[in-house]
Amino acid sequence: METPREVKESAPETAARCARHHVQANTAEMMSQTKLYSIHLSDAFTWLEAREENSIHAIVTDPPYGLKEYTDIEKSKLRNGRGGVWRIPPSFDGCKRSPLPRFTILDDTDIAALCSFFTKFAKEAARVLVPGGHVMVATNPLLSQYVYTSLIGAGFEKRGEIIRLVQTLRGGDRPKNAHEEFHDVSVMPRSGWEPWGLFRKPCEGRVQDNLRKWATGGLRRVSGKNPFVDVIQSGPARREERKIAPHPSLKPQAFMRQLVRAALPLGCGVILDPFMGSGSTVAAAEAIGYASIGIEKDPAYYSVARKAIPALARFTLNGANGRSGEHVPLPRDLKSIHVKKAVAYIEKQTADLIDLYLEQVNVFSAIVGIFGVKALHAVSPYKKHKHPDVAQQRFPDLSLQGKLNPPPEQALESKGSTRPWAIQSHYNHPGWYVVWRYLVDTTESIKPGHPVVIWRVDVVS
Ligand SMILES: C[S@@+](CC[C@H](N)C(=O)[O-])C[C@H]1O[C@@H](n2cnc3c(N)ncnc32)[C@H](O)[C@@H]1O
Repeated sequence: METPREVKESAPETAARCARHHVQANTAEMMSQTKLYSIHLSDAFTWLEAREENSIHAIVTDPPYGLKEYTDIEKSKLRNGRGGVWRIPPSFDGCKRSPLPRFTILDDTDIAALCSFFTKFAKEAARVLVPGGHVMVATNPLLSQYVYTSLIGAGFEKRGEIIRLVQTLRGGDRPKNAHEEFHDVSVMPRSGWEPWGLFRKPCEGRVQDNLRKWATGGLRRVSGKNPFVDVIQSGPARREERKIAPHPSLKPQAFMRQLVRAALPLGCGVILDPFMGSGSTVAAAEAIGYASIGIEKDPAYYSVARKAIPALARFTLNGANGRSGEHVPLPRDLKSIHVKKAVAYIEKQTADLIDLYLEQVNVFSAIVGIFGVKALHAVSPYKKHKHPDVAQQRFPDLSLQGKLNPPPEQALESKGSTRPWAIQSHYNHPGWYVVWRYLVDTTESIKPGHPVVIWRVDVVS
């Protein structure tokens, strides 16, 4: 049994829908192909200068925030594990953490270079975008003003900011080399969010006129009932995604798909990411069924993107990379309504625990499994049952109608996992498993508007 998943249109369906909205035929060629994207190994400015005006419908991009971190010299320090702008954080709880760039060390010359980079970008973006086209640009609370001023200077309207609520294990908020003397002092707040500037090229006439002519000017609603909202709960890119796309600034699909989807109000047109890195924007567009173009100037990252985009686009947000979609019958007397109720219960109970534990997959999956047992005990004919095997007593079985000591083949086990169900068992349990799969993602929420867990349930005999 599955909770709702993304429904992807076929390319001809998208093309037909766009034709209904009279979107100019500049996307027709891309739409007719099996893949909807093209990527280019190029400097973004060279590519943009050659692009015809009014030919892109939205730009969704995560550029180098401070510029310096993606210069050749800093990238070579990063690749040799030598730090530089890239701070190599100490390991924590046995986990090796990824390097993060430090933006507090930029000097006046760096800032001037940053402003000139974004001024050039803004000018080209204003030229290639159609009227009413949006720019969604990732930045950092310390540097956003330089990016925003450049865009406004090129004629864009500021339409707000999208706040990605993200907790990362950044350290170092205390006075350097004096933290003992000033032990109650934070030099700056420990940041729990990432700003994405939201800008629009002015519309031609009213929004409705612009929507008719260019298919742009607004944002796509999450659903008929729910508008797109500007605060989005997000985890860091998941371990499985980082394996597919090893880029130091990888953005998670769960978040990128929400932005990309919103960027085309009628779902028609072309999205551009001129600084695509490993291609998470392009992959998100491909997953949704939008045409997109990605540009990257670093050959190593370009080659990561070439491989990663199809895999990221296929990445199911519930983490099910195993035998997803396979129909498996439910065990005796367990009905889908029991499973639905259990999902609602687990979701409610674990909502507060996600931020703390999601990244510690083992801990979180144990919590989910245990709440699954409690839920099924309460809502189904299956009852908690202490497993006779001492090693398994952390995860009680569930037995039908409370029958004691059921043979294993009649017992049901509740597990939370990101792994394919085929490898769930670490001991030979010939009975049934309910595998609850999860992630944080509001686009597929079964409770729209709630930053909650998405579940997919496999029952395996
Ligand atoms: C912050 S990263 C983007 C990461 C991306 N969001 C992802 O999920 O993988 C910025 C990327 O822009 C690239 N870049 C920097 N300057 C560029 C330029 N002038 N033209 C094209 N790409 C550029 C860098 O090499 C880097 O990969």
